[in-house]
Amino acid sequence: MLTNENRQTLIAKAVQAYHQAYAPYSNYAVGAALMAESGKIYDGVNIENAVYPLTVCAERVAIFKAVSEGERSFSTIAVVTKNGGTPCGSCRQVMAEFNPEATVLIANLKGELVGEYLVKELLPSAFGDADLEEARE
Ligand code: THU
Repeated sequence: MLTNENRQTLIAKAVQAYHQAYAPYSNYAVGAALMAESGKIYDGVNIENAVYPLTVCAERVAIFKAVSEGERSFSTIAVVTKNGGTPCGSCRQVMAEFNPEATVLIANLKGELVGEYLVKELLPSAFGDADLEEARE
């Protein structure tokens, strides 16, 4: 169950992570923290590159860290920015891969919750595993 205490814990981790963001080009730092199925928390930051399109968002870094440690699902992800920005489309798609029912907490740098959504609300009618079933037969 997602309690206010869980919310605050994840948001605090994402605020901490925020300060490790590598965003010299946009100067827009993002921190993320997720609760994985094992109960472990994984964080992530945006990592930019002089070749701009190689940038990876904080949400995907957190998810990829978790998946590379063996996790396959997460229940909640907190995303922290200065102004409470919401996840980009690519991150929504990657979130949907690992749990369309997950909760997305949007918070600002003060740790205030400014939005709360389900992944499936942020990405309705997502393309997914089921769409590939026929092709795999
Ligand atoms: N960014 C994220 O990390 N997550 C998002 O969902 C939106 C955008 C990053 C990418 C880039 O480093 C900076 O924010 C500006 O787009």
